[in-house]
Amino acid sequence: MNWLVTGGAGFIGSNFVFRLLARHPEDRVVVLDALTYAGSLETLASALQDPRFRFVKGDIADRDTVEALFAGEDFDAVVNFAAESHVDRSISDPGLFLRTNVIGTQVLMDACRAAGTKRFHQVSTDEVYGDLPLDRPDLLFTEETPLHASSPYSASKASADLLVLAYHRTYGFPATITRCSNNYGPWHFPEKMIPLMIVRALADRPLPVYGRGENVRDWLYVEDHCAAIELVARKGRPGEVYNVGGHNERTNLQVVKTVLQELGKPESLISFVKDRPGHDMRYAIDPAKISAELGWTPETAFDDGIRRTVRWYLEHRTWWERILSGEYAKYDAKMYGGRG
Ligand code: NAD
Ligand code: TYD
Repeated sequence: MNWLVTGGAGFIGSNFVFRLLARHPEDRVVVLDALTYAGSLETLASALQDPRFRFVKGDIADRDTVEALFAGEDFDAVVNFAAESHVDRSISDPGLFLRTNVIGTQVLMDACRAAGTKRFHQVSTDEVYGDLPLDRPDLLFTEETPLHASSPYSASKASADLLVLAYHRTYGFPATITRCSNNYGPWHFPEKMIPLMIVRALADRPLPVYGRGENVRDWLYVEDHCAAIELVARKGRPGEVYNVGGHNERTNLQVVKTVLQELGKPESLISFVKDRPGHDMRYAIDPAKISAELGWTPETAFDDGIRRTVRWYLEHRTWWERILSGEYAKYDAKMYGGRG
């Protein structure tokens, strides 16, 4: 198969590229990525050595760029990871999120329609469902849960999902969607909670926990998410949404304490800071549909995944130290400045 992976220089996209190249010697992978602050060619260094891999720098919302790419390639499947992905950034700059996440998705789908591409897969998020209350542990997000986005980020992802489903209904466009819970693992940009806490703890800097740390996320190891995406992109039914999650709910405080324990650092590093505006309380996924229909189950238990992740950050210091010393330093100072 000839795959187009957009956003393949980011966290989940790069893990997906490595999976395809390692498991399918007959497959070819093209990455289209704008290399925003969140994407890096350093992440793709091993893939760049592979003759079955091609990297194209470009913006998914730029119609000329996308059409030129499709004119020179014949893709069997397009998997769209490219997005602005950080909730906190969407609160300060919503416009960029609409452009990339909504218009970018439309431009890609138009190119696929024109080329007759057989499969488009949209990588979405459980955040499109809004949040669940802490006192109703029986409630989980199913594919039937109404969309109820809280942040400009999740609203942009929900908008893109609606557009994908509208293209399916109107044009018979062969698209699938996965909505996954929070991922963690290698190559995760250190502005997101788990890698942020790891790199700050290693430097003995305060760990900024929003509010009281009671918010609950449903954590999934990135490789399990990539397995689900591949399965749905190959075998999922067009026009269908599949929720992806591993029944692994933790409060933020529990996660931060686990990271500190793994690193042998004291809990006194925890610092409770001002809450995120509109902060979703709890996410929890019901993955019954993907399990029953496609046989997907997660393989990595949280304790094992966290151990592997912490080890990965210890072994890849140069990767994240370069990020911390570059453009990201300005964001870090603005976001957490004055708090260590
Ligand atoms: P990321 O921020 O690490 O990577 C995004 C990548 O997209 C980067 O390489 C960036 O350069 C690229 N990009 C951004 N704008 C672009 C544009 N206009 N054109 C081309 N490339 C562009 O994000 P991630 O965490 O890997 O998330 C990937 C996808 O998965 C997103 O769509 C996100 O909504 C979704 N998702 C993420 C999580 C999670 O926990 N991280 C969970 C569920 C779903
Ligand atoms: P994040 O990794 O940004 O993912 P999302 O908001 O998409 O779930 O945040 C995960 C949780 O951690 C979320 O409840 C917000 C919280 N958080 C902190 O407490 N401190 C931080 O510095 C960050 C970045 C997040």
